Amino acid sequence: MIQTETAKELELSSQEYLKLVSQIMSIRKRSDVPKAYVRTYGCQQNISDSEMIKGMLSQAGYSFTDNAEEADFILFNTCAVREHAEDRVFGNVGALKNLKRRHPQVLIALCGCMMEQEHVAKRIHDSFPFVGLVFGTHCLHEFPKLLYKSLVDGKRIFLRDNDDLCVHEGIKTLRDGSFKGFIPIMYGCDNFCSYCIVPYVRGRERSRRPEIIINEARDMILSGYKDITLLGQNVNSYGKGLDCDINFAKLLREIDSIDGDYWLRFMTSHPKDCSKELLDTIASSRHISLHLHLPFQSGSNRILKLMNRHYTREKYLEIINYAKEKIPDISITSDIIVGFPGETYEDFKQTLSLVEEVGFTSLFTFIYSKRNGTPAAKMDDPISAEEKSKWFSELLKTQEKIASKRCASMVGKTEKVLVEEKSKKEGFLCARTSGNIIVEFLGDESLIGTFQNVKISKARNWVLQGELIK
Ligand code: SAH
Ligand code: SF4
Ligand code: F3S
Repeated sequence: MIQTETAKELELSSQEYLKLVSQIMSIRKRSDVPKAYVRTYGCQQNISDSEMIKGMLSQAGYSFTDNAEEADFILFNTCAVREHAEDRVFGNVGALKNLKRRHPQVLIALCGCMMEQEHVAKRIHDSFPFVGLVFGTHCLHEFPKLLYKSLVDGKRIFLRDNDDLCVHEGIKTLRDGSFKGFIPIMYGCDNFCSYCIVPYVRGRERSRRPEIIINEARDMILSGYKDITLLGQNVNSYGKGLDCDINFAKLLREIDSIDGDYWLRFMTSHPKDCSKELLDTIASSRHISLHLHLPFQSGSNRILKLMNRHYTREKYLEIINYAKEKIPDISITSDIIVGFPGETYEDFKQTLSLVEEVGFTSLFTFIYSKRNGTPAAKMDDPISAEEKSKWFSELLKTQEKIASKRCASMVGKTEKVLVEEKSKKEGFLCARTSGNIIVEFLGDESLIGTFQNVKISKARNWVLQGELIK
């Protein structure tokens, strides 16, 4: 009966659509329960979105598999930030063609940042006819209806470019981890850094209400989460546009006041909005980890201006020096782009000198990737890929020395760590310090998910080795 109805005639709640999906799949499933394979590319924001999609799928009766071959539903949640990320998705989607031929009843879907770009959606439409459902980041809350329509109508659905500025609450999240988890506090980005595609695929910045975030954090802490990361493209501008007296530092203080043994992290901070109030809040908090991820992208003021970043090298160093003064044990990490259009070796040397001056624990380094539709894509880019790659290696070498030195300086100290998983090394466990540095030590698996104290005995590049203090 359900199968003969056309989805268009219905306008139901998400819950009702999920119930209908569950009824359909109880008949169509390939094995004892319907199975979903969800593969996530990109940043924590995408991981968090996938956790919401998994929440909805589990409400519709799906269980999850790491083997696409046995799935009833295959979803790729995609990232558009660099060309390489997009190429990987196209390659991996192409590889599903044969699977769909062998199992025609499987529904293949694509979502996420890539799918908000018109040219990508068109390419999927024209070249990958076995993909049945495509939806962008703005349509996440519509997933139950889209899934239902796809199953019932069997027609291909493409949905994107929804100018929706709302924050949709009430979506059940199925978190991947049981002791580490994300809470998105805002969506979108208004900064329009000239190289970046994110504002075009994630839309305008909008914040979730503080009481909802605080309740979510409290629930996670009560259910045993030990490490909570607040997510946003620029968390420092949290609260703009809300009709209540809140900013990011205040939100952190509210969550920090919840009792329990846990660490509170956040990412990403934009230097232009990184206030002294925020750093003072970290310094005086009980739970905020001693880690500041503050991407600076380039050490050259000329390039920072072309990047539309709205701060200077001097302003960046002022924030860093204030942070080091107030929080002496702070671990600082950053993102850097090498080879932005028009960057010269002289500009690049400014990046190197900033890296040396700050002494980062670790760096996420990227070679500039042209993103169509961004202002930087129209700028002259005369430096060859070969030359950029030489600069890139020089940066990695510089950072390696700094990271080794920083890690070596921790030998002899006792650190509180959160034990995360088994190490590849037999009998060892992998843990992280509050500053987000990896420590390996001999210990029993039963310690995974707990805080322990470890005395640092050795440093190997950026990984520490330690001994458990009983
Ligand atoms: N909102 C965050 C991070 C966004 S994307 C922030 O502002 O810091 C993560 C990182 O990818 C960026 O910090 C930047 O270093 C890198 N990135 C973004 N666009 C890029 C591009 N076109 N080419 C190379 N790296 C890029
Ligand atoms: Fe991209 Fe800049 Fe926004 Fe970060 S702040 S997501 S780099 S536009
Ligand atoms: Fe990629 Fe989208 Fe994140 S473009 S980096 S997944 S916001």
